[in-house]
Amino acid sequence: MATLDAPRIVSSRAEFEDSYTLARYLETGGYEGLRKTLTMFPEAVAAEVDAASLLGRGGAGFPAGRKWSMLRKSPVSYLVVNGDESEPATFKDHFLVERDPHQLVEGVIIAAYALQVAQAFIYIRGEFALGLERVQQAVNDAYAHGALGSKIFDSDFSLDIVVHPGAGAYICGEETALIEGLEGKRGFPRIKPPFFPAVTGLYGEPTVVNNVETMSNLPWIITNGGAAFAALGVGKSTGTRLFALAGRVKNPGVYEVEMVKNTFRDIIYDPRLGGGITDDRALKAFIPGGVSAPWFGPDMLDLALGQDEVGAQGSMLGSGSIVVLDETSCPVRAAWRITKFFSRESCGQCTPCREGSGWIERAMYRLEHGGGREEDLALVLDLCDNIAPGLGWPPQQTTICVLGSSIPSSVHSAIQMFRDDFIAHVELGRCPHD
Ligand SMILES: Cc1cc2nc3c(=O)[nH]c(=O)nc-3n(C[C@H](O)[C@H](O)[C@H](O)COP(=O)(O)O)c2cc1C
Ligand code: SF4
Repeated sequence: MATLDAPRIVSSRAEFEDSYTLARYLETGGYEGLRKTLTMFPEAVAAEVDAASLLGRGGAGFPAGRKWSMLRKSPVSYLVVNGDESEPATFKDHFLVERDPHQLVEGVIIAAYALQVAQAFIYIRGEFALGLERVQQAVNDAYAHGALGSKIFDSDFSLDIVVHPGAGAYICGEETALIEGLEGKRGFPRIKPPFFPAVTGLYGEPTVVNNVETMSNLPWIITNGGAAFAALGVGKSTGTRLFALAGRVKNPGVYEVEMVKNTFRDIIYDPRLGGGITDDRALKAFIPGGVSAPWFGPDMLDLALGQDEVGAQGSMLGSGSIVVLDETSCPVRAAWRITKFFSRESCGQCTPCREGSGWIERAMYRLEHGGGREEDLALVLDLCDNIAPGLGWPPQQTTICVLGSSIPSSVHSAIQMFRDDFIAHVELGRCPHD
């Protein structure tokens, strides 16, 4: 059974029908963390976040406090919040922007105070129409409430926030492509170095980029203290984390659970969470951290939901999405569809990503639709090896950004774990699941 006695840090208001309104937010302790923040020195606010050991929730898991402290040595110009979240089956930030936009806005103001920036941007995926509307309303309400604008709550601190809708490209979730998009350009990732946002970010200025969930944790951390957050979880993985559970489970949805104290089995099978596999079928595999992540089989069910724990087994918690495949799911089809997504979303700057993704997608299409040959498996793996040489974990990078090196994960996992399924497609001349 899952351990569910930890406080719900970012999803505590989600059950209220009016969870997104200023009235509900104020009734449930809203903007108290900000009021406390304004009585503290900015360094002390950053120190609380450092003490919390809050790992970034956008995918890479870099500690937020460390990112800020590296930057605070030279003045930061902008804070940018990444609410792009366009990866298939990933929807935990979507949940936060729709259900608790004031919590996000308060987190942004706290971070901006710690960094002493006067301008922040919240970038939200354009397709999140309701989320965009609610975040914009929350920003407007925060101005009217005195929590934004000039001299916030009569302090000496002033901040403006611009809400920026994205234009529907997955690559704009990559922080440097997002910055290009904010500047009004096409979303092309920039080469790092020299274009680390901390050094040369938005409009060429030092910029902090953080994820929506990372920001949404800040009101609780400041109200309760970084040590209280660090007391949850184990080791490097502190606090709680939101997981978007998708695929063949009885209760797909977004769940907040304490890190490391819970396992994949808990989140997939506990009746209060995923509730088990659809129609009580057998589990075939699961993708632990979004479609960029290598897959796990049922032997990994008892692995703890922690960054290092999952990393040590050759995958990642990544974007916070867990996708479940059951005995009736076709792994060839799943890997083909994931590759098709990456191929479509490749921005085209790097040859291995642009060409390789298309070649792999076409070979996978052939295999899934019954036109494949056994030799295609070696061909596909060779193509994958050209994108991420050695096919190890973490992957080697031959491209500007890690979208490229993510392409082999699903195909390599599917061939390694389910070679027999591929052979069955070849022998039958069709998908056995059709
Ligand atoms: C292809 C690609 C897509 C990404 N999409 C997102 C996204 O939708 N949201 C996000 O927060 N981070 C995304 N990231 C990671 C960001 O580049 C960046 O690391 C993150 O926003 C930093 O925030 P954090 O430190 O709070 O996690 C993506 C990275 C890549 C390579
Ligand atoms: S790896 Fe792919 S998405 Fe990333 S910059 Fe290169 S071509 Fe664009």
